[in-house]
Order: sequence, then C-alpha cells, then structure tokens
Amino acid sequence: MPDTSSKLPSLTIKSKKITLPIVQGGMGIGVSLSPLASAVAKEGGVGIISSAALDRLVSKRKGKKVNSYEAAYEEVSLAKASGGFAGINIMVALGRDYEASVRGSLDAGADFIISGAGLPLGLPAIQPPKDTALIPIVSSARAVEIICKKWERLGYRPDALVLEGPLAGGHLGFKMDQIDLESNKLENLLPPVMDAANKYGGIPVIVAGGIYTHADIVRFLEMGASGVQMGTRFLATEESSASQEYKQAVIKVKEEDIIIALDPGSPCGLPFRVIRQSPMYQSAIQKLRKPKCSKGYVLLKDAEGKFSRCPAKESNEHHFCICNGLLSSAGYNPDEEESLFTVGTNAYRVNKILPVKAIMDELAGRVAEKV
Ligand SMILES: Cc1cc2nc3c(=O)[nH]c(=O)nc-3n(C[C@H](O)[C@H](O)[C@H](O)COP(=O)(O)O)c2cc1C
Repeated sequence: MPDTSSKLPSLTIKSKKITLPIVQGGMGIGVSLSPLASAVAKEGGVGIISSAALDRLVSKRKGKKVNSYEAAYEEVSLAKASGGFAGINIMVALGRDYEASVRGSLDAGADFIISGAGLPLGLPAIQPPKDTALIPIVSSARAVEIICKKWERLGYRPDALVLEGPLAGGHLGFKMDQIDLESNKLENLLPPVMDAANKYGGIPVIVAGGIYTHADIVRFLEMGASGVQMGTRFLATEESSASQEYKQAVIKVKEEDIIIALDPGSPCGLPFRVIRQSPMYQSAIQKLRKPKCSKGYVLLKDAEGKFSRCPAKESNEHHFCICNGLLSSAGYNPDEEESLFTVGTNAYRVNKILPVKAIMDELAGRVAEKV
C-alpha cells in the first residue's frame, strides 16, 4: 500500500496516468465548464465539463449559434488546451442531444466520457471511442452487470466505473425510500460493486457522493477504490461558472436546508438534491409557476418517436422546469426565470470561494487541511 498520509497514488485509466486519483464531477447546467475543468486538470486531477445545455451556453459566449456537437467539441478542446486530463459528463436523460454530444466530444479527443442519469447501454456503439475512456456511472452491482453484459455484445468493456452513492449533488440513482438505507451507504455499496468490476476484468472503481477531505479520499482508497469523484467541493470555486447568487447560496446554506426534491421534483423522475431556498423550488411548492417548456433538454419521445414530451409541461404541479431553473443558476437567463440550486450533502461545509489550486493542494495532502 503506498504512503497516502502526505500524498495520494496516481490513477491509471486506459493507459492515461493521472497524477492524482481525483475526478472533478461534471456539474450541469453550466457549473463545470472549461475554466473549472482545465484548472483541475492543471493541478493533476481530471477536469470534467458538463454537456447539459452546452449549445446555449457556448452560443451565448461566442455570439453565434452552435449546435450540441459543436458545443461539446469546442468546450472539450478548451478544457484540454492547458494540459492535463479532461473530459465530459453526458447524461443519458438528455436524450435529444446525447449522440451529438458524444460525437463532438470524441472528435475533440476527450480523455473521458462519463455517463449516468440512466444506463448508458448504447454508448460504445455511437462511434469508435479510440483513446477516449468510456465510464458509466452506477449505483449498484446490478447496474454494473447489466452494462457490462450489454457492452460485451458491443465488443467493449467499461474503462472505469463511477459508483455514486446517495450523498451526491444533482440527480440521485436511488428511490426516495432507499436513500437512507444502511446498505446504500457508499462504503457498503463499494464491496459488491468491486466484486462485479473484478468479475469483468478488474475495472477501476471511482467512488462519488459525500467525499470532501483528503482523509475521506484516503479512507476510500484503503477500501479498494481506485479514485474519487467530487462535485460539491468544486461548486463555489473561483473557476466554477455557477452564478455569484448560486455560489453565495452555497456558502450560506445550513445543513437542514439541503433537501431532496421529488414532488415537486425533477421531470427526470429521480430524486434531486436542492437548497430549500432556491427561488424555483419555492415557486414550485407554492404552485406559482405556469407550465412552460422552452428549452427541452429532458424531453422524452412520444408515440411517433419524436422528442416532444416533458413531465414538467404536462403536470407542472409535480415537477419544476429544471432546464430553465439550472440555466438561470449558470447566469443564462434571457427569460428572467428563477434559479434552482442543486448541491451535495456537504455544501454546508463550504464557507468561502477558493481557487481550485488551494482545494487541490489540500486534497492531495500537499498542505494541511483547513476544513
Ligand atoms: C451542482 C451539481 C451539478 C451536478 N450535475 C451533474 C450532471 O450534470 N451530471 C451528473 O452525472 N452528475 C452531476 N452531479 C453529480 C457530480 O458529478 C458528483 O458525482 C457528485 O456531486 C459527487 O458528490 P459530492 O457533490 O458530494 O462530491 C452534479 C453535482 C452537483 C453538486
């Protein structure tokens, strides 16, 4: 076992040797863009952008319309430009733009495509990934089995797995009544997932959800994880593209105000962790918002196979308009929509906006932890 008391071991995925076993989790909409991802990559970790609504965000920045393929190509290229390893998170739930985002990322030479919020069963078949590592996000050994069996038929094996437990930010891969189960704690999910990963040839497992300090990282590496993925710790950094209002909400939030929204909740139907005071969540529980679907990233197919249905449009008393709420939180707000702030359970521990370097120095054990 390497000495992890002062520094961490490297992580190798698909022949890419990453100095630190720290993946900055993709944060959509528009929180983890190229400034955050390249800063993490430069510090020896893996920087991950989020594909969610990237066409609008990049179009606004460039002052000309780009599509999802072009947006993914552009942002991945920028994230990689300063060196280090960088990739993209592409959610299965974003069905309409999924394939175009994958192709743009592969053509730009993304080091990693990390894909969850649904099972990415068809990912290897979209286009030959060449040097890009394909990494599904799972929350159980069963999901590992299903994905590996399906990918075997496509002649591909996952290059790594992200195992995300119930303390994460964003959408959660658990039913509401399973979130607090002892068996679903990340440390208890890890052994069966590692067994499944070993059965399919020793796939590295990266753990996510509630990891916050250097000591947390060391603990999970000692349990057998190959690396960690962290989101919330990077949410209110200088390089994060969250709006100032969002970063301030993270700094101020109290532990009891980090809640899980389900009804009203995300139109994706998965539990979604939010700050209770988020303006769009407050409007949703008070049933103040009129149905509207002007962005359409989470549209589902109708009977004719067209992406036209959104639960938030059909029954907005049960769902909030996640595209507009999250876009507003990333400073994209031509329609003056209210913001929606998603965070992980540890957001109440963030009390200052810091540069990525300061956080990476702490996480790597290069300097003493201040948290
Ligand atoms: C603001 C925010 C946005 C997120 N967006 C996404 C996303 O678009 N896709 C995804 O797969 N995971 C998303 N996540 C999950 C993170 O990538 C990460 O796995 C998780 O937050 C890890 O838990 P932690 O926040 O406790 O470190 C998001 C998390 C946060 C905090």
